[in-house]
Amino acid sequence: MDTAYVITGPTSGIGHATALDLAAYGTVVLVGRNSGKLDDVRAAIGRKGGRAVSIVCDMADLASVRRAAEQILALPYTVAGVLNNAGVMRPQTTKSIDGFDMTFATNYLGPFALTDALTPHLPDGANLVYISSAIEDPDRRPAQVMGMRGGQFISVGASAEGQWRAGGSKMPGIDAYATSKQCILAAAMGFARENPRLRFNTVEPGITPGTGLGGVNNPLLVFLFSQVITRLPPFSRYRSTPKRSARTITQVLTDSSDKTGVYFDEKGKPMHGSALAHDPSFQHRLLAETREFLASRS
Ligand SMILES: NC(=O)c1ccc[n+]([C@@H]2O[C@H](COP(=O)([O-])OP(=O)(O)OC[C@H]3O[C@@H](n4cnc5c(N)ncnc54)[C@H](OP(=O)(O)O)[C@@H]3O)[C@@H](O)[C@H]2O)c1
Repeated sequence: MDTAYVITGPTSGIGHATALDLAAYGTVVLVGRNSGKLDDVRAAIGRKGGRAVSIVCDMADLASVRRAAEQILALPYTVAGVLNNAGVMRPQTTKSIDGFDMTFATNYLGPFALTDALTPHLPDGANLVYISSAIEDPDRRPAQVMGMRGGQFISVGASAEGQWRAGGSKMPGIDAYATSKQCILAAAMGFARENPRLRFNTVEPGITPGTGLGGVNNPLLVFLFSQVITRLPPFSRYRSTPKRSARTITQVLTDSSDKTGVYFDEKGKPMHGSALAHDPSFQHRLLAETREFLASRS
């Protein structure tokens, strides 16, 4: 059977660049919520001589995620890797179709549900990769400078309700984003420990301007952030581009070594996330609590 790589969120930014790179390694399974945009990515891959198939899925909708998992497993391919890239960071908070915080549902609950639906059926050595963000770490300097305070986790249920620990960011939506990224990083490390048959790694793609992330429509603010602020310390050290981030992510996703439970930076070097994300007892609690939460909602 042909080899395939699954990617969520291939229709924009880092995911779009990564989907094009992945075409060199096998059939690309494009998982996105907009069929027109998926058609465009499939055509772009075709123009490069690659092959892709599309699966329409809203990562914030748990029923849609479960349907997508069934469709992926029904494909006539050997799935060598799954990249959980789709993500949102919104200035304002909104609710998902299931009534959960939209950011937490998209960035954490959806990828978690997809992982648990796929993993029993993936071949030995398959590589699952997650995209976190340095914003999850309260001690990360650039995030602190921007007024971010890291993940503000209370419980899975509270996060789904859009409730965060006191003392977080003053920007609505940022605590949701930081917490969702802290949870996905901790969960990936927990998956790695409980499932040595497969590999679970996480990438921090760096500060990558020019993508759709952030939902900011003010052209002046976008220009200032992407062309001025991110070129200055302490941001410049972590600055990346969608193409560069895609190269690193593709390398991690297609790597055939046994590395698992590793958190990579934008250059592909191992990095440290927040103390909480690295704490095995937190990882263990998170996996159990999330499974209980998802089971009670299915
Ligand atoms: N850019 C950065 O500086 C940066 C830094 C750290 C981490 N990240 C992470 O990198 C990943 C990619 O972000 P990006 O910067 O490339 O942003 P982007 O250009 O906005 O891309 C986000 C992708 O996720 C998809 N998506 C969003 N919500 C979805 C949903 N409910 N269901 C299915 N797909 C959905 C989008 O689809 P549509 O095209 O349909 O909107 C798009 O393809 C995200 O996980 C982000 O958190 C980015």
